[in-house]
Amino acid sequence: MKISDSLQLPCWVELSSRLAKAALNENIGEADGRPGKRMKTLYEMWANCGAALNISGNVMVDARGMVEEHNVVLENDSYLDDVREWARIAQSGGTQFWMQINHPGRQAQTNHNKEIVGPSAVKLQQKGHFGLPRALEEREILELIRRYGNTARLAKEAGFSGVQIHGAHGYLVSQFLSPKTNIRSDRWGGKLENRARFLLEIFRTIREQVGPHFPIGVKINSADFQRGGFDNEDSLNVIRMLEAEGIDLIEVSGGTYEKAAMMGVGQRESTRKREAYFLEFAQKVKAEMNVPLMLTGGFRTLAAMEEALSEKACDLIGMGRPFSAYPKVAAEFLDGTRQECVLPNTSTGIKTLDKMGAVDLTWHSMQLRLMAEGKMPNMQLSPWWSVWDLVKRLYL
Ligand SMILES: Cc1cc2nc3c(=O)[nH]c(=O)nc-3n(C[C@H](O)[C@H](O)[C@H](O)COP(=O)(O)O)c2cc1C
Repeated sequence: MKISDSLQLPCWVELSSRLAKAALNENIGEADGRPGKRMKTLYEMWANCGAALNISGNVMVDARGMVEEHNVVLENDSYLDDVREWARIAQSGGTQFWMQINHPGRQAQTNHNKEIVGPSAVKLQQKGHFGLPRALEEREILELIRRYGNTARLAKEAGFSGVQIHGAHGYLVSQFLSPKTNIRSDRWGGKLENRARFLLEIFRTIREQVGPHFPIGVKINSADFQRGGFDNEDSLNVIRMLEAEGIDLIEVSGGTYEKAAMMGVGQRESTRKREAYFLEFAQKVKAEMNVPLMLTGGFRTLAAMEEALSEKACDLIGMGRPFSAYPKVAAEFLDGTRQECVLPNTSTGIKTLDKMGAVDLTWHSMQLRLMAEGKMPNMQLSPWWSVWDLVKRLYL
């Protein structure tokens, strides 16, 4: 199996190769939530990135629940022309552009959210302005499900070629899935079938809104990597449920703000060397299911990508950080001019800082901001600038 082979999804849509850009939160939306000039410049840079599929950074389904202050929000058609222009630019080089849709739940900060909500009143254990969430009422849960469907419908109307539900990394869907953050005793909590209900109802609502031939994906954790949390067995079961519902693409990742496994934090050195952080879990999924699987986290060399594809551990290779350092990285892998993608070491040497993964994440966010100004990424950028940026964002 080669990275240049095409891939057909259950909805009949074909991806032109096996390389995808995973979602990278841009945090450069305008004050009213619309994608403006900077967003369009960034996606112009990626229009010829070479990936068969580019997944947008998370777009919020509700302006009252923002991951970051400058996320794009898509609740109604008031600035749909800007969203349409964003989609047009992103796809002008032939890549598919899917909108990742999300609600942060308890992983939202009180300095830019009036009220924090979640499945249950379980507080996030992390530095920053994270408050105790208020447990959602039944009618609010139903309203949120409707909102995911509405945002997906608007994404389709604006010309996006698919949507991805963000069900990973400790955000609202992932909070419902985890027995640690969902301690409800009604039909939305308790046994796995109940914890998965929120995600399945979102999927069904979106399918109703977009029809059978529009791709719907889900990004899901292989595990939360926390004692008593969502584990491999839970994840396998939820993927089985999604396959039975007719999902088009599962993207496997892992971790939450409390344990940033998605960024390689806490992974064994041997796992990091092998590159694909969640390879073993992906192998388990593919051993028993046919659902198209995108594996994201740690891929840096052509050899590791081709090995994962040949071993049938996954169908699609997802990369995040490589695209913020090398905007055309997939095109270079595909035309043979690149065999490897070396990223700078952003470690500060201070264990508590490095352990959170937040400095690395901020370093890459800063590269996105440069690209949004029409500049190339700066590989010489010191991680200490990211520390400063992070401190400003979290504490000032
Ligand atoms: C700056 C930055 C922003 C990110 N934003 C998102 C996001 O909006 N949604 C998401 O699912 N993952 C997000 N991620 C995680 C990536 O999609 C990916 O899972 C992670 O970076 C691991 O892949 P990599 O090793 O190829 O970078 C983000 C990562 C970075 C570095």
